[in-house]
Amino acid sequence: MRPSDMLALSGGAPAIDKTLAKPIWPETLPQDETAVVEALRKNDLTSLYAGGAVEMLEAAWSEWIGTKHCITVSNGTSALKLALAALDVGPGDEVIVPALSFIASAIAPLHIGARPVFADINPRSFNLDPKVLPALLTPRTKAIIVVHLHGLPADMSEITAFARQNSLHVIEDAAQAHGATYQDKHVGTLSEIGVFSLNASKNLPTCGEGGLITTDDDTLADRLQKLRQFGERLKRGERRLYLHEDIGWNNKLGGIPAAYTLSQLDRFGTSNALRESTVRRFLDRLRDLPGLIVPETLPDRSHVWHILRFLVDAEYAGFPHLTNKAFRLATQRALRAEGVPVEPYQQRPLPAQPIFAEEDRTAMCRSGRELPVKPFSAESYPITSRVIDDSFTLQRVHLNSGADAFLQACADGFEKVFGVHREQVARIAQSIAARTA
Ligand SMILES: Cc1ncc(COP(=O)(O)O)c(C=O)c1O
Repeated sequence: MRPSDMLALSGGAPAIDKTLAKPIWPETLPQDETAVVEALRKNDLTSLYAGGAVEMLEAAWSEWIGTKHCITVSNGTSALKLALAALDVGPGDEVIVPALSFIASAIAPLHIGARPVFADINPRSFNLDPKVLPALLTPRTKAIIVVHLHGLPADMSEITAFARQNSLHVIEDAAQAHGATYQDKHVGTLSEIGVFSLNASKNLPTCGEGGLITTDDDTLADRLQKLRQFGERLKRGERRLYLHEDIGWNNKLGGIPAAYTLSQLDRFGTSNALRESTVRRFLDRLRDLPGLIVPETLPDRSHVWHILRFLVDAEYAGFPHLTNKAFRLATQRALRAEGVPVEPYQQRPLPAQPIFAEEDRTAMCRSGRELPVKPFSAESYPITSRVIDDSFTLQRVHLNSGADAFLQACADGFEKVFGVHREQVARIAQSIAARTA
């Protein structure tokens, strides 16, 4: 066997040659640099700069996705907190949150004194499973934070119907899903309030931190604008009165990050389309590999491929005696040796995070009152727990529009690990299982 055909774990040449350029995200082009320098030179530095980058970004994003209002903010986590506060969610209220997400989806309710109540997920879409909602409903339930995880829209029809029947608010956490559509409408327009992150790692990035909130509701837009601005109502073209009507925060976006995102937005549609074809070409090569389940979209929605989550299935790979977890750990190790940067995304369900542990009072103290905390048990979130055990991910930086050559080399690595060398990887899984038994 030639060294290039052997597993890198056994001394073969890795599938990803060291000389292959590593993808970089965000991609900063000369026009992005010019936009930032122009904002600097004009002193367009804060959200108070009339007609500046912040206002232009708000107008451009609301037009792009089709909402009446867009309010820029300092980051996606603050956007979630402001959205909850604008809907009058607060101490004593419960907010339903999927058990698989980034911590921000669960921490935002805590920041305003509400309690997150966790929902298990669908095993293929990895999004909140609407079927579990009735069991989570209590007289205190006030809102649902729906996360469009990894770039795939959640089951919005079912979730919004349930919310309507039970008079609950719905906030879309679209931090990972800019530009994704559900029944031909963009995420962020499918409920009362949509929330986006502009963190540098996101599909629509800034050169640092930022966030966007979208709504069609004039009253909510007015409240959100006040809440990000010390509770103060600012009127365009009028003198500032320093009158503080609400207990707001300082969660504004600066002119420079706004100018950078505005410039990125010029090519957002094109780069989404390019990523769609690059990722499709990659997934097409992996789809028939035994024991690997590739992420898919659904017929009524589009996926914007922020993160690719791959499930493994030991039985389907021909190893019914192995657990999926042991097979995942072994394939992950073998892929990483090939230079394929797969890694877990979220190592535990959100309710298993230390802040929700019974003996840890931090979360409760911050929110100013004793929260009834249910001790975590994996049985309460069987799908989330299984998905975390049985899957690994490839993340945004490796999926950008210019990453075609890199992804094709990754596909070579997957073919080695799940194809010709599958038996050898299974033996590694066997020894992992024996060690952890
Ligand atoms: C699903 C989700 N929600 C919220 C956030 C929070 O966004 P930010 O990092 O801008 O605060 C993130 C960021 O990673 C996220 O992935």
